[in-house]
Amino acid sequence: MHSTTTKSQRSGGVIECYREFLPVLPTTPIISLGEGNTPLIYSPRLSERVGRGCEVFVKNEGTNPTGSFKDRGMTVAVSKAIERGTTALICASTGNTSASAAAYAARAGISCAVILPAGKIATGKLLQAFAYGARIVPIDGNFDDALRIVGKLGETGDFSIVNSINPDRIAGQKTAAFEIVDELGDAPVFHLLPVGNAGNITAYWAGYREYLAHERSTKLPATIGFQAAGAAPIFYDRIIDKPETRASAIRIGNPASWKQARAAIVESRGAIDMVSDDEILAAQSWLAQHEGIFVEPASAASIAGLFKCCDSDDAAYSFEKIPGGSRIVCTVTGHGLKDPDVVIQRMKELKPVAATVTDVRRAIKL
Ligand code: F0G
Repeated sequence: MHSTTTKSQRSGGVIECYREFLPVLPTTPIISLGEGNTPLIYSPRLSERVGRGCEVFVKNEGTNPTGSFKDRGMTVAVSKAIERGTTALICASTGNTSASAAAYAARAGISCAVILPAGKIATGKLLQAFAYGARIVPIDGNFDDALRIVGKLGETGDFSIVNSINPDRIAGQKTAAFEIVDELGDAPVFHLLPVGNAGNITAYWAGYREYLAHERSTKLPATIGFQAAGAAPIFYDRIIDKPETRASAIRIGNPASWKQARAAIVESRGAIDMVSDDEILAAQSWLAQHEGIFVEPASAASIAGLFKCCDSDDAAYSFEKIPGGSRIVCTVTGHGLKDPDVVIQRMKELKPVAATVTDVRRAIKL
């Protein structure tokens, strides 16, 4: 039988899948690496933890081509940039945006400059930007400083900005909400996710609302965002001049989409909360060792947040009286291999033993 599937459809990608919801024209050149279509994994143990017959699913965005959710937005932003004749991209980043921008620029055959807080980018992410051939400029400043500089450089017309202040990024990222609704058959009752620059919470909320408007779903989820305790400007409702957290991806003191995030939280009757670095790292280990899902620290903020909603008296949102049978989705945003440093510290205890069956058997300790 003759197949009508084109090459680009076979390689997938969020534009091919959700074209009607995205700002692309039939003539837009599509720059894709097959992003999206990420697993929504049912977690029996997290479901048990919540209780009352609730079902918890983990949306694992670490399986995207460059290992984070940024690729969904980047395919749209870079395709539109190429349509407009751009020859160079620019972004500020805590790491993942730079890795994604660098990859899609390489794919499109254009240049990419990435402005990064020096010494604060996880090893794997910096390595990615380097491998994909980006111009890397570390600055003596934090992400907020980098974004301010990028905003100014964007005004010169020499570069297309591909941070989430570019609406094409948000448009692409809302496809994660579409996928969740398509798979579950409706929106979940709760959606939990980490918050940094606040683009992703903005994008999910836009996606859920758009699907409701198109009658693809019957409800909207209460959206609960989690910031790191040392970098929680939205939670405290004030700019944090010197944000600090081991979850370097969300080390942001003045999020660009602050207002939109607030709107998402208020309109959805959700909440913004914060989790400590210890809670984040404990949740990262827990998820790897109990569900086989290895995520970077920032991603584990949604899981740490779920635990907080279940266990803590001072959670911004308590699951104590959660409606029975509620479906909860936690987005985990980036792959664990991007940020190996914390785990490497714990691996120091590994010592070789003699190459004999007896010694190896003893060392297994099982
Ligand atoms: N999780 C990860 C792994 C991230 O890299 C980011 C943001 C977030 C969560 C927060 O998402 O900013 O949309 O609220 N990383 C950006 C970057 C800032 O430069 O890679 P957000």
